[in-house]
Amino acid sequence: MTKGIFPVTKFQVLRTPFYYYNTTLLRETLQIIVAEASKYHYHIHYAVKANANPRILSIINEYGLGVDCVSGGEIQAALNAGFPAEKIVFAGVGKADWEIELGLDNRIFCFNTESIPELEVIHALAAKKGQTAQVALRINPEIDAHTHHHITTGTKENKFGINLDQLDKVLDRLPALTSVRLIGLHFHIGSQLTDLKPFKVLCERVAELQQQLTKRNIQVENINFGGGLGIDYENPDGKPIPDFKHYFEIFHTHFPALPHQQIHFEPGRSVVGQCGSLISKVLYVKEGSVKKFAILDAGFTELIRPALYDAYHKIENLSSDEAGETYDVVGPICESSDCFAKQIELNKTHRGDWIALRSAGAYGEIMASQYNCRQLPESYFSDKL
Ligand code: LLP
Repeated sequence: MTKGIFPVTKFQVLRTPFYYYNTTLLRETLQIIVAEASKYHYHIHYAVKANANPRILSIINEYGLGVDCVSGGEIQAALNAGFPAEKIVFAGVGKADWEIELGLDNRIFCFNTESIPELEVIHALAAKKGQTAQVALRINPEIDAHTHHHITTGTKENKFGINLDQLDKVLDRLPALTSVRLIGLHFHIGSQLTDLKPFKVLCERVAELQQQLTKRNIQVENINFGGGLGIDYENPDGKPIPDFKHYFEIFHTHFPALPHQQIHFEPGRSVVGQCGSLISKVLYVKEGSVKKFAILDAGFTELIRPALYDAYHKIENLSSDEAGETYDVVGPICESSDCFAKQIELNKTHRGDWIALRSAGAYGEIMASQYNCRQLPESYFSDKL
C-alpha cells in the first residue's frame, strides 16, 4: 500500500485542492540525473515548462542543472530562481521581440531558432545592441515518436523546427546575418516516450546530418537532443525514477560526437513528474441511474491532462480501506470534459475522503487555469509541512 507516503493528518488544516511535492524523491531523481549525465559530460537543461514552481526551480538549481525556456516569463522565472544565464537555452517557434531582448540583455547561452525570419529578427536586435547572439538551429528530424498526437513534435506536418529539405536554404542565409553565430543543432522528437527506440533513430539521423554539414565545412560545437523521456503513469511507485542510465547510454552508444562537441538534453517530465500529486477532497458521491460519480473539489482547472490528452493519472482514495467500487471521478467545472477517469475502481468512497491524483508533478500546476473564477492551487512540500 502506497498511501503511507502521504501525511494525511498534516493535510487536515490545508485548503484543497493543492499540489503536494515529495522533495525527497525530487532530490533522488536529480542526484541520479547528475550522476548518469556526468559519466559522459552531458549538459542538462531542465525544461521549465514542465513545472515552474519557484521552490521546485530552486531545488533543481541546487544540483547545477541549466534550463530550457520557451518564453520571456520562463527566462525571468529561471533567473529569479538563481539559474545562471550562461546555462539558459531559449526555444520556441514564436519568440516576441521583448523576449529576444530579455535573452540578449542577460547574455543567455543560446537561442534555439526555427526559421529564417526569426534568425533575421535576432540578428537585427543583436546588431542594435552591438552583440553577437549565439544560435542553434532547431531541426525537425522527421521521426515519429509514437506518442500522443498532441505531444508529437518531430514529424513533417508539425509547426516545429526547420524541415530537413529547408536546411540548405537556412545555411545559405546565415553568413549574411553577422550578428548571429551558429553554435549548435537542436532536436526534440516528442514527449512521454516510453519506448526508447526513437532516440536511437534520432542519433542515427543526427549523425547523418552531421556528415552532410561537414561536407559544407560546418562543424557545430553543440548538439541538443531535447527532452521526451517518459514516466510510468500506471505504476508511479514501482520505479519512480526513470531509467536515465539507459537513456544516456543510448546517446553515448549511437551518436558519434565530434571531438570537443558538447551534448545537451532538455528533460522536463522525467525530472519532476513523479514527485507531485494533486490532493483533493470528495465533495459528493452521486448515484446516477447507470453509474456512480465521485465528485472532487479539484477539476481540470488544476489538472487538465486527462481532459486535454485523455491522459491517465492513477487515482487513490487516501481515506478508505473499504472494498473497491466503480466510479467516474469528476470535477466541479461546468463542462462534461471535466472528468479525471471513467469507471475506475476506488476503495468505497465518501464525502470528505482525501484523494491523490498521482504523477502530476509535470504539466500539472503549471497548466492550471482560473476558469470558472477558481483560485489557482497552492503548493506544499514534504520537507516543509
Ligand atoms: N524541449 C522541447 C523543445 C520541448 O518542446 C519539450 C516539451 C521539452 C524539451 C520537454 O519535454 P519532456 O522531457 O517534458 O517530455 N503538456 C504536455 C507535454 C507537452 C510537451 C511540450 N514540449 C503533457 O502534459 O503531456
